[in-house]
Amino acid sequence: MKKVLVATEKPFAKEAVDEIKRIGEKAGYEVILFEKYTSKDQLINAVSDVDAMIIRSDIADKDVINAGKNLKIVVRAGAGYDNIDLAAATEKGVVAMNTPGQNSNAVAELAFGMMIYIARGCFDGKTGTELREKSLGIHAYGNVGKYMALIAKGFGMKIYAFDPFVNESDMIADGITPVKSVEELYRTCQYVSLHIPANDKTKKSINHELLSMMPKNAVLVNTARKEVIDEDGLLKIMSERSDFKYVSDIAPDSSHVFAEKFPGRSFFTPKKMGAQTEEANINAGIAAINQIINFFEKGDVKFKVNK
Ligand code: 3PG
Repeated sequence: MKKVLVATEKPFAKEAVDEIKRIGEKAGYEVILFEKYTSKDQLINAVSDVDAMIIRSDIADKDVINAGKNLKIVVRAGAGYDNIDLAAATEKGVVAMNTPGQNSNAVAELAFGMMIYIARGCFDGKTGTELREKSLGIHAYGNVGKYMALIAKGFGMKIYAFDPFVNESDMIADGITPVKSVEELYRTCQYVSLHIPANDKTKKSINHELLSMMPKNAVLVNTARKEVIDEDGLLKIMSERSDFKYVSDIAPDSSHVFAEKFPGRSFFTPKKMGAQTEEANINAGIAAINQIINFFEKGDVKFKVNK
């Protein structure tokens, strides 16, 4: 019987876990839960004799991948796979996959929740501002970006997007305005929401130069990855411009500086929670176990992300 390890330092909702187990066991797999672990050594030990592994933001680095003697597939139940050492996986013949789109609405809803929270002065009882008629720049028009646009329409926002990998005509068909450059997006939009992956090209790319282009009362919204931000540049613009605000689902390394120096102008979730809804957990969890079953039973590698 093949073994599937569900290694989640941040566990899925119970409903999602129950479904993963039910689907896996029905297909003849043993599903082993490994939640809330506290060290890499524990993960290395847990992966040692399994055939497949489902993870979230859990780090599947070279040591972890190589520790899986029988490991054939790692599925990141979620979108970003910067937590998997793809080269190590390829070298060991392990297939790495993600489950694109499954948790995107949850992330977009959190982005809007944070936008409202900061627009209303962190709910401090004083006069705030509305999102209606404000400009929203969607930086990367993928699965989350599309949900951002859908929700923003309901709020009556003016919606722009930059994504060199998406046809302008597709954006126009969705009723949003494509812009030609990242600079144009930041120059045009009071709110900019990040939906880019963290990779060699994007890390630290959201820098002082770009942020300083944003109009008055700028709000940067980050539900992507903290690595894409040049934190020194962000701190610089925050100290230069008292109108600049930053909300993020991933606390920056220097979060204490934001709290001390810029009170009321930033907000960070205590733990990454964009995808932390029952619905997103169920969607991504079910997709992950199904992808594993389809891989073993049919050789299906549709969502493979390594070479
Ligand atoms: C993703 O890339 O899908 C999100 O960042 C969700 O991450 P999580 O599974 O750790 O909540």
